[in-house]
Amino acid sequence: MKPLTHPALGAGSPLSRNAGEGAERSEEGEGPLAVYIHWPFCRSKCPYCDFNSHVRDGVDAARWTRALLADLDHHAELMPGRAIGSVFFGGGTPSLMPPETVAALLDRVGARWTVMPDVEVTLEANPNSAEAARFRAFAAAGVNRLSLGVQALDPAALKMLGRLHDRGEAIAAIEHARDNFARFSFDLIYARPGQSVAAWRHELDEALVFADDHLSLYQLTIEPGTAFATLERLGDLAVPEEEVAAALFETTQEQLDARGLPAYEISNHARPGAECRHNLAYWRYQDYIGIGPGAHGRLTRGNVKYATRQRRVPERWLAEVERAGTGMEEMAAISRDSSVEEMLMTRRRIVVRSYSPAADRRRISDARSRAPRGNGRRPPASQRGAGGPPRLIVRSAIPSVY
Ligand SMILES: C[S@@+](CC[C@H](N)C(=O)[O-])C[C@H]1O[C@@H](n2cnc3c(N)ncnc32)[C@H](O)[C@@H]1O
Ligand code: SF4
Repeated sequence: MKPLTHPALGAGSPLSRNAGEGAERSEEGEGPLAVYIHWPFCRSKCPYCDFNSHVRDGVDAARWTRALLADLDHHAELMPGRAIGSVFFGGGTPSLMPPETVAALLDRVGARWTVMPDVEVTLEANPNSAEAARFRAFAAAGVNRLSLGVQALDPAALKMLGRLHDRGEAIAAIEHARDNFARFSFDLIYARPGQSVAAWRHELDEALVFADDHLSLYQLTIEPGTAFATLERLGDLAVPEEEVAAALFETTQEQLDARGLPAYEISNHARPGAECRHNLAYWRYQDYIGIGPGAHGRLTRGNVKYATRQRRVPERWLAEVERAGTGMEEMAAISRDSSVEEMLMTRRRIVVRSYSPAADRRRISDARSRAPRGNGRRPPASQRGAGGPPRLIVRSAIPSVY
């Protein structure tokens, strides 16, 4: 692993020297604290995506930087004395952030908390050439892990998914990521309309040539409210049948196992030791703070676990931070029972093997669409599959934003 380049985060910096001390001092909440920062803007809205992502002209980066810093300060007051184990810039498209914003935020993390010497700093990036040109600057700002949204290596599939990049740009971005970051991963979406097992096997073989030690492989889910959901309702788009989806999943597991990147979570594969620590923090139910529109957090204070939720609409979030110093809309104590249940639910994600794809996909889609989104309260039992078989989360993108 290359050394960290950002002075505030580097091993041996004044901040990292007392990181161990910070970790020991941390009586409230187990393990290091994870920080999630959400950038809600994209160049265009992909037809399958229901993340909190928006297309806006003329984003005022300086204003957004000030607001994100203010909210970080607010959280530092709430969670003092903890050691930071990971920072994750998610979106939206964080690779549209000015690198100076990323640097300022990482500086502030280093100024407000102690930072573990081996801190993992991930940024999600789209593989467009304009964004790839910033990779070096992101690395200089302190990012040491890049997660690229390649989605497909098949040119026709990239078009069908409404992506702005082509295959050549995707491959160039992967190479550029390899040159600039100690660690990188990329995402692919499978079980696409019309995709055969043979075609996916071939695409995965290719992906494994380009991959390093981590890959995220998501089954396409048709999310309510997306353009794909409309097309499906009109009969103009059909995801593969249950048996085909199951075979696609099995093929994925076999190929990745054979290449030494077994699943450590339903959609995430890594060489042992190369797992994304930030995601593991969620799935192990460790504390994380969520900054930015729609971000969620789980914070332990005085032996009580709290669920936090930020305002979802970017402009409202911004106005609220400027008015009140935080975009937080809710901070609710989670009862001990709910907390144990949440912990069991999230820990279930770190297991994979048995599969019943379409039924699971429908159940998950249903639950997601009906569940009160991100209010920190647990959904009714009917939506949690209580008493039923463990629910398989087919798509497990970042769970801290809705
Ligand atoms: C926050 S999103 C995207 C990050 C980045 N903006 C991009 O598009 O590359 C993280 C990942 O979730 C996956 N994803 C989003 N919507 C999905 C869906 N409906 N079905 C399956 N995977 C999905 C994609 O692979 C995507 O890269
Ligand atoms: S998939 Fe990525 S680029 Fe596309 S709309 Fe969602 S967050 Fe934005």
